[in-house]
Amino acid sequence: MTNILVDSSDIEEIKKIADYYPISGITTNPSILAKENSDLQKKMYEIKKFVNSHYEIHVQTTEKIAEKILSEAIKLHKFFGGKFFIKIPISKEGLKAVSLCKKEGIGVTVTSIFTSSQVFAAAKAGADYVAPYVNRMANMGMESIKVLADMQKILSSYNTKILAASFKNIEQFTDLLVIGVDTVTVSTDLLEQSIWHPYTDKSISDFEVDWNKTFGNLRVGDFI
Ligand code: G3P
Repeated sequence: MTNILVDSSDIEEIKKIADYYPISGITTNPSILAKENSDLQKKMYEIKKFVNSHYEIHVQTTEKIAEKILSEAIKLHKFFGGKFFIKIPISKEGLKAVSLCKKEGIGVTVTSIFTSSQVFAAAKAGADYVAPYVNRMANMGMESIKVLADMQKILSSYNTKILAASFKNIEQFTDLLVIGVDTVTVSTDLLEQSIWHPYTDKSISDFEVDWNKTFGNLRVGDFI
């Protein structure tokens, strides 16, 4: 069963989605948070209030040196609580930081993943999740779904799970549901689109017309 995260820091939009779609948490990245500009402190507290140790929260480090990544992860972990994951882009220092964070009991998502060999290294270092960028791979001419299927095979002997990120369309999203990746993170827009179809709308409208022609304002419950 694939878990769904929302790749956004727009808490109002996330709340609207969480009201009807069973999500497991949220992911952010520096580009997403940079949109908040001077209100970021307020935003961090809004996010904390929303996640409330109930939802997963993945926040990317803004440090590059392993020891500094660890210090930042400890601070964020204390702030957000048990379901916090530090996102660390794959690099030499990043891998070093993965082991340091895991020793401190902090969840780790190794991010900015494009290849199976990166996945392998992250799994060896003890990452909880690896985050391959599906659409950015496709933009590079890579067969992203095939690559992700290979990643899954590699991870079958590790505890590391796939947290697929970067989606442009529903097809990419559905393809990953079919191969059964552990987790995907998508925008609120894409998640909303994923339950919509024009013929669903038409079917609903046709049912309503047929009913109203015969029974007017009466509801089905009025007949029992
Ligand atoms: O967190 C990284 C991922 O969200 C990137 O997505 O759509 O910017 O390629 P995108």
